[in-house]
Amino acid sequence: MRKIFIIGIGAGNPDHMTAQAVAALARADVVFLPDKGDDKDGLQKLRRDICARFIGDKPYRFAEMRLPERDIRATPDYKANIEAWRAGVTARYEQFLRAELADNQCGAFLAWGDPAIYDGTILILDAIRAKGDLAFDYEVIPGISSVQALAAAHRVPLNRIGESILITTGRKLAAGWPAEADNVVVMLDGQQAFKALPPDLGLEIFWGAYIGTGDEILIAGPLADVAEKISAAREAARQTHGWIMDSYLLRRMSVKTP
Ligand SMILES: C[S@@+](CC[C@H](N)C(=O)[O-])C[C@H]1O[C@@H](n2cnc3c(N)ncnc32)[C@H](O)[C@@H]1O
Repeated sequence: MRKIFIIGIGAGNPDHMTAQAVAALARADVVFLPDKGDDKDGLQKLRRDICARFIGDKPYRFAEMRLPERDIRATPDYKANIEAWRAGVTARYEQFLRAELADNQCGAFLAWGDPAIYDGTILILDAIRAKGDLAFDYEVIPGISSVQALAAAHRVPLNRIGESILITTGRKLAAGWPAEADNVVVMLDGQQAFKALPPDLGLEIFWGAYIGTGDEILIAGPLADVAEKISAAREAARQTHGWIMDSYLLRRMSVKTP
């Protein structure tokens, strides 16, 4: 039976690799490297470096998988667009698994951060298994998400006593501050949705870019005071690197009594 590991590799620092992730990776005969076209060279390099550092002398190989690119114009509806793209990606994954992984071999997908947070790999493998044309077993190895790395870098908890935590996207936050939210972690925000939030919400922000890497940038403070500073730092970093990976925690400054 083919065996596949979906391994959370952490959010940019190779030292995020857990002992469980290292053990799973060491079993891989084939490491699959999906490439969505928008993938940053640095992120693929980190995946290769992790393999070089943690697999050791055991023979393994990489299978690079060029994936279909998303065409936003094809279906203007966001969800329909993602679903159509995902169907193409799923077909490509199946094709690769069939061609690259022999029946008794072990394969690995290296998921950025944790595979359970804004990562499609689990759903894609589920969809292939559900079709029933290709038999394989798979296991998910949790990783240190950028959510945890962000909180650790700022030395803050994600919640204070009894509060909730919401993880969402910049796209969702652009629709407004979520009702009842105490602490909101925002990912995938290319539009800087924090800039449009009304000052009377009394928010503070803990922002980080390239967290865990040598290029890490951290800015924190009352949102009204630091929003412009973050925006300028973000733009400068994007120009320097050609891409940016950032996330942030927003929370109300007034602490509720437990
Ligand atoms: C497709 S999601 C993948 C999240 C990943 N599964 C995780 O657990 O961190 C990509 C988003 O994660 C966030 N992210 C990932 N790595 C990051 C890092 N090193 N620094 C800051 N944000 C990061 C950014 O918001 C980015 O847009």
